[in-house]
Amino acid sequence: MVIDGHTAVLGVLGDPIEHTGSPAIHNFLAEKLGDNLVYVPFHVSKKGLSDAVRGAYELNIRGLNITVPHKEAVLQEVTELEDSALAIGAVNTVVRSRKGYKGFNTDFSGFMRELDYYSVIVYNKPVILLGAGGAAKAVMYALQKIGASRIYVLNRSKSKAREIFGNLKNVEILGFDEWNKIPGNEQYICIQCTSVGLSPNDGECVIKDDEFFDLVSVGVDLIYKPKETVFMKKIRERGRDAHNGLRMLIYQAVSAYEIFMDREVPNDIAEALYEKLDP
Ligand code: ATR
Repeated sequence: MVIDGHTAVLGVLGDPIEHTGSPAIHNFLAEKLGDNLVYVPFHVSKKGLSDAVRGAYELNIRGLNITVPHKEAVLQEVTELEDSALAIGAVNTVVRSRKGYKGFNTDFSGFMRELDYYSVIVYNKPVILLGAGGAAKAVMYALQKIGASRIYVLNRSKSKAREIFGNLKNVEILGFDEWNKIPGNEQYICIQCTSVGLSPNDGECVIKDDEFFDLVSVGVDLIYKPKETVFMKKIRERGRDAHNGLRMLIYQAVSAYEIFMDREVPNDIAEALYEKLDP
């Protein structure tokens, strides 16, 4: 690529940042689409966040992805918020506007697009949500928006889950050892939003009891490393579909790119990205 006076600068801001896959994804999209930009990692500590965002604005940085641990704190640093980011209480994408940065949550849109790709129909269906962290909040917002009939949230810390989701009418909160309180006369879409099972702890699954998986009609694990988690394997062993989180990762990046560059990323380019990351 040629860097010149017109090259737009974008990046991802987090701590740690060395493991990030975002530069590879966004630079790949830029190359395929012929956009004149560079996308780089920025290591920013919690105490440096405010200065970093203001500095980025002064440096004319077009947009940033925001990752751990800044997704919530950055709400204080933006001048505008898109509805989903406000409702979720987390921002993973900011784009330059006239007065400052505007915050978006493309984890939410990425999850919606993954459901759509795999034809997982949530409307009027009961759902089991495993976890109540940042990712689970974006997933819950999507489930509410699509219109799941009822959502059972299972989390290690019930009090934390209650704090986050306790005011939602169609939600019941349980501990992992209480899964058998979920009515057994229905089949459930199950979304795995904990970090349990993430590489290098490939052999782990947040639900230990095999009978739990008889409740599941289709599973989505937000983890994409390994490609098949124990959670997915147990569902597939029962002849049901299970998907990993690679498409959510790709679509959250594609959605962010579309916001940054104000253009649509064609499907074949999103698919080329999928092929690159899942050869
Ligand atoms: P993310 O942004 O990826 O969602 P997070 O906000 O740290 O990360 O959330 C991690 C989720 O995994 C939480 O639901 C967490 O449970 P708690 O809310 O009880 O902390 C869950 N989690 C992490 N390690 C776990 C473990 N060893 N057993 C069970 N749940 C675990």
